[in-house]
Amino acid sequence: MRPIALLLALGLVNFTLAQNRDPFHWLASLHSPGYASLQADNTGGECPEECDCPPTFPVAMYCDNRDMKKMPYIPSRMKYVYLQHNQITSVPDNVFGNATNLVWIMLHENHINSVGKNAFSKLANLDRLYLSNNNLTEVPSNLPRSLRDLHLNHNSITKVSPSAFEGMENLTILLLHNNGLQEISGSLKGLKSLTLLDVSSNQLKKVPDGLPEMLHQLYLESNSIDAIPADFLSQFTNLQYVRFSHNALTDKGIPQNTFNISGLVELDLSFNKLERIPVVSSSLQHLYLQANQIKEFTLGSFCSVVDIMNFSKLKVLRLEGNEISAGDMPTEAALCLRLASDIAL
Ligand SMILES: *[C@@H]1O[C@H](CO)[C@@H](O)[C@H](O)[C@H]1NC(C)=O
Ligand SMILES: *[C@@H]1O[C@H](CO)[C@@H](O)[C@H](O)[C@H]1NC(C)=O
Ligand SMILES: *[C@@H]1O[C@H](CO)[C@@H](O)[C@H](O)[C@H]1NC(C)=O
Ligand SMILES: *[C@@H]1O[C@H](CO)[C@@H](O)[C@H](O)[C@H]1NC(C)=O
Ligand SMILES: *[C@@H]1O[C@H](CO)[C@@H](O)[C@H](O)[C@H]1NC(C)=O
Repeated sequence: MRPIALLLALGLVNFTLAQNRDPFHWLASLHSPGYASLQADNTGGECPEECDCPPTFPVAMYCDNRDMKKMPYIPSRMKYVYLQHNQITSVPDNVFGNATNLVWIMLHENHINSVGKNAFSKLANLDRLYLSNNNLTEVPSNLPRSLRDLHLNHNSITKVSPSAFEGMENLTILLLHNNGLQEISGSLKGLKSLTLLDVSSNQLKKVPDGLPEMLHQLYLESNSIDAIPADFLSQFTNLQYVRFSHNALTDKGIPQNTFNISGLVELDLSFNKLERIPVVSSSLQHLYLQANQIKEFTLGSFCSVVDIMNFSKLKVLRLEGNEISAGDMPTEAALCLRLASDIAL
């Protein structure tokens, strides 16, 4: 405890100390049982005792790694609050009070299992909200539409309502991995700026419908997906990185041209049940197929047999843990896969 806070607690300092502050704030924070007393900090402004507010950067508040069990009082000037790695269990309504200028809220690695219906709703400038590694069972309601970066991974979320991300036209990164989701179809439709979606390590049984067209990275590994419709990947105009490893994909679930999509740079299909090498676009650079049941090296999957000059751009091809060996590679592979510097069989 800083000396001045101790004096305050003992009643030895009168309130003239707080003369340049909002007296309502000051009193309210002293008398509200949820809020610890504030330090009399005559440089940067008020600051909860258990946190640090550097005078050189008065709009940031550092409360991470302090065994806190409750949300602290957040002064209205704050833009950046660091509350990660504590033992906070709930984020009540009004906890952000008048701190409506908040831009970043870091609340990852806590034990949050309850969030007030409107806890975040007034934060019209919120850009980043990190809530990963908590005990959430649903996406908090009324999240600000201004969000660009939302981390909800490593929780126990089992459902996403169709309106959970409504109107978030600037949301660019959405992390939902390591939850208990069986279905997210429809709820991401309006996210026209979304470029990275991670829904890996959930319980999806099929590919989600209605994903945003601007996706650049799509991570769906470690689910129970057994099929990918022919037009699934072609709905995206900028897709470059796709991960489907550790699913239940079979040849039957993959129509001929599912992966024959130009623009794709990296495709991870490892740890599935494929028996054939699927057709991929000649523009693909990294293809991961290890730990499947592939029995044949089909050169036509990479290169046109008609136009052998149209060679593959593959640099990395991983095929170990299948039912083929180096001897199964046709000699023409040298021509077709001339750029590959890393082929593992
Ligand atoms: C927020 O601001 C309003 C109006 O400025 C004021 O009446 C209210 O007491 C403030 N609330 C908190 C929690 O500081
Ligand atoms: C929170 O989650 C952890 C790990 O998943 C679990 O051990 C703990 O019991 C949960 N706590 C509450 C309060 O739900
Ligand atoms: C999205 O970003 C633009 C440009 O910064 C901004 O004008 C707009 O208000 C933002 N949309 C939302 C819903 O916050
Ligand atoms: C892959 O797509 C290209 C361009 O759409 C097409 O010309 C080619 O025939 C396709 N490859 C196969 C094996 O279907
Ligand atoms: C190679 O084939 C692809 C489709 O498979 C086509 O889009 C591309 O234009 C071809 N490139 C050359 C150099 O012929």
